[in-house]
Amino acid sequence: MQVLVTGGAGFIGSHIVDRLLLRGNDVIIYDNLSSGFRRHLEPALKTGKAVLVEGDILNGRKLVKAMKDVSTVFHLAANADVRGGQADTGVDLRQNLLGTRSVLESMRTTGASEIVFTSSATVYGEPDRFPTPEDYAPLQTSLYGASKLGAEAIIQAYGEYFGIRSCVFRFVSWLGERYSHGVVYDFINKLRANPKELEILGDGNQKKSYLHVDDGTKGIFLALDKISGLKNVINLGHVDYIDVKSVARIVSDEMGLKKVVYRFLGGSRGWLGDSPLVHLDLSKIKQLGFYPNVGIEEGLRRTARYLLENIWLLDIRKMK
Ligand SMILES: NC(=O)c1ccc[n+]([C@@H]2O[C@H](COP(=O)([O-])OP(=O)(O)OC[C@H]3O[C@@H](n4cnc5c(N)ncnc54)[C@H](O)[C@@H]3O)[C@@H](O)[C@H]2O)c1
Repeated sequence: MQVLVTGGAGFIGSHIVDRLLLRGNDVIIYDNLSSGFRRHLEPALKTGKAVLVEGDILNGRKLVKAMKDVSTVFHLAANADVRGGQADTGVDLRQNLLGTRSVLESMRTTGASEIVFTSSATVYGEPDRFPTPEDYAPLQTSLYGASKLGAEAIIQAYGEYFGIRSCVFRFVSWLGERYSHGVVYDFINKLRANPKELEILGDGNQKKSYLHVDDGTKGIFLALDKISGLKNVINLGHVDYIDVKSVARIVSDEMGLKKVVYRFLGGSRGWLGDSPLVHLDLSKIKQLGFYPNVGIEEGLRRTARYLLENIWLLDIRKMK
């Protein structure tokens, strides 16, 4: 089966590509390399069963051409920077909302029948119910979250109009090999610049439920093999959570730094649209057999070690 992965050169997308290849699929990776890397795709491209098409999801003509013989589209290409929307209020709407519509229109044109979409726990805004279930009625607190929820809604409408089957996964933050943005990345880069002191957004008590990429990709394919409805929405996270202060301690420890002074910027949120607690109700995906194997601390340590062994990834964002 031929599958297309938008954003397949990114952190999560490249792992999805690897797993699709292991399952015997031929894979078309469609990516504009704005935050992804050809280097993440080396193992995939070596198999001869994957090709990289460099293109933007907003370029419908190119996307239609790439999607010619495809049945399933994994749609990951997005502005994945949850904080970017404040500086440029159009980026989430263009990349996540119009981008998703462009993917759906291409699917309609080519007859691709199934979309797997990577949404986010940020669609829940700042919830008051924990763990937060899929049917929680949220109020939006960020343009990133709003654009992801809007994209989910458009996907479901295309399902109704054109029979495109959908599986939307609402992710917590992911960790693991090829990780290239997020709290561990930021802490390591700040500590490389100043190993004595670490500035931490918020009061450090924000609690997050980080999921390792091995568990996350396993969860996605477990669900896809078992679900059958036209429109599916599934939370995908960890059963535990950890506070940001502990993340700082673990990262400092992996860097061999013992006496780091933590300087908190204050407030219970790290940025506008951040939620003091992210903890998703996993009942739905657990019923399908999912349980994370990698503990959060282990996931954080493995991620820090990976980045420290791959300094190019820490340096490259400065160059982009
Ligand atoms: N990483 C997380 O913790 C997390 C959490 C929740 C949701 N998500 C979602 O999962 C998906 C993947 O996230 P990631 O962490 O791998 O991000 P990433 O930035 O590593 O990957 C995104 C990929 O999409 C590509 N891309 C971006 N805009 C594009 C465009 N217009 N056309 C073509 N390609 C484009 C980038 O080059 C990159 O390869 C995103 O949709 C993100 O919103 C990620």
